[in-house]
Amino acid sequence: MSYQALARKYRPQSFSDVIGQDTVVRTLQNAIEGNRIHHAYLFAGVRGVGKTTAARILAKALNCVKGPTIEPCNECTICREITEGIDLDVREIDAATYTGVDNIRELRDITQFQPARDRNRIFIIDEAHMLSTGAWNALLKLLEEPPPHVIFMFATTEINKVPQTIISRVQKEMLRKITLDELKERVRRICESEGIEADRGAIEIIARRGEGSVRDALSLLDQVIAFGGRSITAADVATVLGLSDSTFFARIAGLIAEGDHGGILEALDEASESGRDFKMLYRDLLSFFRNLLLVAGRANESMLAVAPEDLPAIRTAAEMFSYSELLRIANLLLRDDETVNRAEHQRLAVEIALLKAATFPRLRAVEEALASGSEVSRSRGRAVSEPKAPQAATHSETPQPRNRENASTQQREPAAAATIESFMERVQKARPLIGGYLGAAKSRRRDGGRLLLTFNDSFTADQVLGARETLEQLAAEVFGETMSIDVQLDAPSAAAQAAKASSPLRDDPVVQAFQKHLGADLVESRKR
Ligand SMILES: Nc1ncnc2c1ncn2[C@@H]1O[C@H](COP(=O)(O)OP(=O)(O)O)[C@@H](O)[C@H]1O
Ligand SMILES: [Mg+2]
Ligand SMILES: [Zn+2]
Repeated sequence: MSYQALARKYRPQSFSDVIGQDTVVRTLQNAIEGNRIHHAYLFAGVRGVGKTTAARILAKALNCVKGPTIEPCNECTICREITEGIDLDVREIDAATYTGVDNIRELRDITQFQPARDRNRIFIIDEAHMLSTGAWNALLKLLEEPPPHVIFMFATTEINKVPQTIISRVQKEMLRKITLDELKERVRRICESEGIEADRGAIEIIARRGEGSVRDALSLLDQVIAFGGRSITAADVATVLGLSDSTFFARIAGLIAEGDHGGILEALDEASESGRDFKMLYRDLLSFFRNLLLVAGRANESMLAVAPEDLPAIRTAAEMFSYSELLRIANLLLRDDETVNRAEHQRLAVEIALLKAATFPRLRAVEEALASGSEVSRSRGRAVSEPKAPQAATHSETPQPRNRENASTQQREPAAAATIESFMERVQKARPLIGGYLGAAKSRRRDGGRLLLTFNDSFTADQVLGARETLEQLAAEVFGETMSIDVQLDAPSAAAQAAKASSPLRDDPVVQAFQKHLGADLVESRKR
C-alpha cells in the first residue's frame, strides 16, 4: 500500500472537523438552516487553512441526499462521489490551468442545463486569482443573472487580485490563519491516531513551522516521520529542518560556485520529481549556507548542529567560497526568502533565486575588474570570484561574534542579569552548541519561574526549542527552582514593511514585477 500524505488523509469531511474557522462555519451553517444560500461564494485566505476543504464540505451539505443539511452524511452516493471528486454536477476547476475565455464560455453553456442528478450544479474554482480578465468578464455575466441551481465557489490566496465587480457579487468568507495552539492540538491528535509518539518540543516546532497553515505543518510532520520513524523528538525535527540532504545542498552550492545554470535546473527538477516542498527546500538551503558561513568563519564546529557524517560535505562546500562570497550569497538568498514563501509558483521562484545566486560570482568579477582597471577574466566560477582585490574591506574575512549586541539588553535588568549570566555560562560549559544559539537571542529575560528568550530567526529559535528539556534542567540547577523556557520569535521585518507600505510606488505593476522576479528592493521613489 502506498503512503498517503497526512494532509490528504486528514482532510476534514464535515464542518465539525474543520479547525480554527468557527466564524466561517457558523455563517455557512446558518445560511443552510435559514435557506439563504448564495449563488456565489469566495473563500479567501493563505495556503492550507481550509478553503478547498470548506468549499467541498459546503457542496456536500447542499447536495447530500439528506440535504440541504448543516452537516453532510458522508455516506450517500452523492457525498461519496463529491469526496472522491467524481460527481458530475460538482466540478472542481483549477483556474491556474483553466484561464481562457473559451473555457468559461464552455462553462456558461453547461450552466444552461439542469443538474444531471444533484440538487445543484456546483463549480469550485480554485486559485481563482489566476483567471484572465476575459474569463472574469464572462463569469461576471453569469453572476449577474445566475442560472437556477448553479452555485459558484471561488477559492483564492490573493483576494486583492480578484476584480471588485466580482467581489461585490459574491458572499465573501475570509479564512484566518490557524493559531499556534490550534495547530499544536491538531498535530498532536494526528500523531495520536497514527500511533506516533512525539514529544512536546517536536509538536511545538512542527506547529510553529506551519506558520498558520495546517497543510504546511502536516507536510513537515510527514518528513519528520520519514526521518525519525514512529517516535519523534524535537531534535529529529530540528535535524530535518536544518540539515536534510547535506549532499544535495553541497551539490547545489557547487553548482552556484561554478555558475552552472543548467546543472541547477536539473538538480531542482530531481527535487521536484521526488516530491519535495520547495518552500521547505529553500529554507533548508538557507540553513545550509548558514553552516557554510560558520565553517568559513572558522567557528567552533560544535556550533553547527550537524550530524558528524554531514561535516565533510559541509567542509568541502565551504572551501569553494571565500567568507565574503558566502556572506553575499547568503544575503541574496535571504532576500528572496519572503518572495519564495509568497510566490504562486514556488519552484519557479526558487529557480530564479538560485540562478541569481549563480550569476553573482561573475557579476562580482566584472565589478572587481572595473575597479582595478584590468581586463575581465573569461574563466568561470571560483577562479574569477576569488576576492584578491582589497575591496573586501566592507566585509572583514573574520566573522563578527553574533553575541555582542546582547550585552545592552541584559544591562537593563541588573538584578536578574547576574543570574541569567551564570545560566548562560553554565549552558556554554555543558552544551556549547546550544550556548551558541542562546548567545544569538535578541533578548533574554527572567520572569519568576519563566525564562523568556526572543529570537530574530526561526532557525535559531527552533534549535533552542529542540533543546528545551536540557535547558530547563540546567536552569533549574542554576536558579535553584523549577524553570520553564519560553521561546519567542520577533520578526525584524515589521518596521521595514511599514516603511515599504508608505511608498506610493508600492502598487506599481512594473515595480512589483521587479520585486517579484528579480528580487529588487524599492529604495526611493523619485519624480522625473
Ligand atoms: N481548517 C482546517 N482544519 C483542519 N484541517 C485543515 C484545515 N485547513 C487545512 N487543513 C488540512 O490541510 C489540507 C489542505 O487544506 P485545503 O483546504 O486544501 O487548504 P487551502 O486553504 O489551501 O485550500 C487538508 O487536506 C487538511 O488536511
Ligand atoms: Mg486549496
Ligand atoms: Zn450525503
